[in-house]
Amino acid sequence: MNQNTLITLNQFISDQQNKFPFVKGTLSKIFGDLQLAAKMINRDVRKAGLIDILGNFGETNVQGEEQKKLDVISNDVFMRLMDLSGACVCVVSEEDEHIHWCPGAEDGKYILAIDPLDGSSNIDVNASIGSIFSIYKRLSPDKPVDHEDILQKGVNQVAAGYIIYGTATMFVYTTGSGVNGFTLDDSIQEFCLSHADIKTPSMGSIFSVNEGNLKEFPEGVIKYIDYCKGENKDEKRPYSARYIGSLIADFHRNLLKGGIYMYPGTTKAPNGKLRLLYECNPMAFLVEQAGGKAHSGSQRIMEIQPETFHQRVPVFIGSGDMVDHVIGMMNENK
Ligand code: AHG
Ligand code: MN
Ligand code: MN
Repeated sequence: MNQNTLITLNQFISDQQNKFPFVKGTLSKIFGDLQLAAKMINRDVRKAGLIDILGNFGETNVQGEEQKKLDVISNDVFMRLMDLSGACVCVVSEEDEHIHWCPGAEDGKYILAIDPLDGSSNIDVNASIGSIFSIYKRLSPDKPVDHEDILQKGVNQVAAGYIIYGTATMFVYTTGSGVNGFTLDDSIQEFCLSHADIKTPSMGSIFSVNEGNLKEFPEGVIKYIDYCKGENKDEKRPYSARYIGSLIADFHRNLLKGGIYMYPGTTKAPNGKLRLLYECNPMAFLVEQAGGKAHSGSQRIMEIQPETFHQRVPVFIGSGDMVDHVIGMMNENK
């Protein structure tokens, strides 16, 4: 890329649309709305530190308006924009028990799945958080949408991405032809291409896991973590342990530097914590497009047939060789 060229996300999407005529205008329109949602949520996230001054969830502010929690605000932003757009027939969200039907959009061709604010426990301590999205095409435009349209395998995603509200705000996405990252230039309020065609290293030296749960992990995972901490100069071990507790932040760092993120099943929660539709599938699509892997311990994440909207699944995601290694150890220790 020519260092002097400034490419905005809008420009990039319109170029892609010209290159791949099958990427119809509707998908570009959804991206326009997602971008707007990102800017609106970014604005609210940047004010989060003032919450004690401006009011907290359930409290009433000086204008007499009820204050909402940031994850509820973020969810509302996505829903409102999708309602206005008409491009998506419905939205499923980590924040809502039921499907959100977009009014008047019965003919909408797409379905959106979102985790409107990931890592929300980190808001109060000013660490990175994010929003995750995943887009599917409805299976048949001729019949009313049913659960089958929403419970599609991750391999059917037409697009996925996240917005990270970190030191800078970034929009990272894929439509199945590589992964590109755009950084928000606050002064012009535009996302500008900063990370073209992201590829993740096949091997890294970072492992990210909540080790507090170690005793409850499967035997193979315990052994792999022990291996990560073992000493071997040639293999750059011990690896570095890095865990923020915000999937987006941990994933983003490992994607760029190389590493593995694990949220295994435990004896108390055999399916782990992360949600297949809102967290694992979009991240799996991105990581595979960047040359990495995502596995549940028993199968490739994107090949899992979802059974319920809010289904959880164990996940091992990141640099391909590291994912293969832990899965191999799990198989040996079954
Ligand atoms: P969310 O804030 O959307 O509920 O997601 C929190 C998730 C994820 O972001 C993070 O990686 C994980 O929970 C951390 O869980 P532990 O605190 O159990 O490690
Ligand atoms: Mn989440
Ligand atoms: Mn969330």
